[in-house]
Amino acid sequence: MVDAPEFHDRTLSLGLARVSEAAAIACAPLIGRGDEKAADQAAVDAMRTQLNKLDIAGVVVIGEGERDEAPMLYIGEEVGNGNGPGVDIALDPLEGTTLTAKDMPNALAVIAMGPRGSMLHAPDVYMDKLAVGPGYRPGVVTLDMSPAERVSALAAAKGCSVNDITVCVLERPRHEDTISEIRSTGAAIRLITDGDVAGVMHCAEPNKTGIDMYMGSGGAPEGVLAAAALKCMGGQIFGRLLFRNDDERGRAQKAGITNFDRVYTRDDMVTGDVIFAATGVTDGSLLPGIQREVGFVTAETILMRSKTGSVRHMRYRNPISD
Ligand code: FBP
Repeated sequence: MVDAPEFHDRTLSLGLARVSEAAAIACAPLIGRGDEKAADQAAVDAMRTQLNKLDIAGVVVIGEGERDEAPMLYIGEEVGNGNGPGVDIALDPLEGTTLTAKDMPNALAVIAMGPRGSMLHAPDVYMDKLAVGPGYRPGVVTLDMSPAERVSALAAAKGCSVNDITVCVLERPRHEDTISEIRSTGAAIRLITDGDVAGVMHCAEPNKTGIDMYMGSGGAPEGVLAAAALKCMGGQIFGRLLFRNDDERGRAQKAGITNFDRVYTRDDMVTGDVIFAATGVTDGSLLPGIQREVGFVTAETILMRSKTGSVRHMRYRNPISD
């Protein structure tokens, strides 16, 4: 019997960077054109084409949606050329479709890969999220604390005043109470209109981004992608699935989830070693966006491995062929 090929994260990582680069570059002509769908489609097509060139037997576990609602990169789709290890893939070809359509900061093309069974098969429901960067004791903040308690606990752990803490929150009516409570502590809030994968990743580099903590609800699939990023960069994330109706509970059951109240830690969401790549689409605090000049396109990718904790920033410049 021939042994199944192993997941060689080091060898596969450059290929993964090419995948997120291709998605970001493909949707760049649609930045600021007001068409979310076209931008997303361009990123999806390019990501899928590049992914299918990789020597992997991949399965999409976090993707564009269920098979009946997403024609490409749907959950369960087999990707790669089949000549390689069996891997799970979590992806969001364009995280921040509206940010891209409106040319607002922090839109990313994102992908993570790990051995089979390494990532939570999160259903497309909301997740209550809480994240902080590296260097804190486990559980320094928890989902059971109130927003104000989290701010105080983090300030005490950081050795600063609550006034020196900045929390990132998605600007949504459902977060009004959370926002008021955080403000009542004296902490600052960075409101973002979309893109909570970037929001969470910002916590891992507080000196660069100015953000200490992320809280609030957003997509559960994005929660798993953010957990993969923090597994490489360091930092903690906690997530609890939120269900609005039976259809959403059914989606979770279909994904194999039985405990609907479970709080997932970073390592519950991503159980094995993963590689993670994100390429900037629009300019952001972590990554510059795609730059287009006459005859050339330039992309910057953050490429990371959880096994080593290595974080590479790769700048790619290529002649535009058309
Ligand atoms: P899209 O890229 O699919 O538009 O999602 C962006 C996003 O802002 C995510 O980052 C976030 O998790 C989710 O949407 C929040 O959902 P909602 O807009 O329903 O609050």
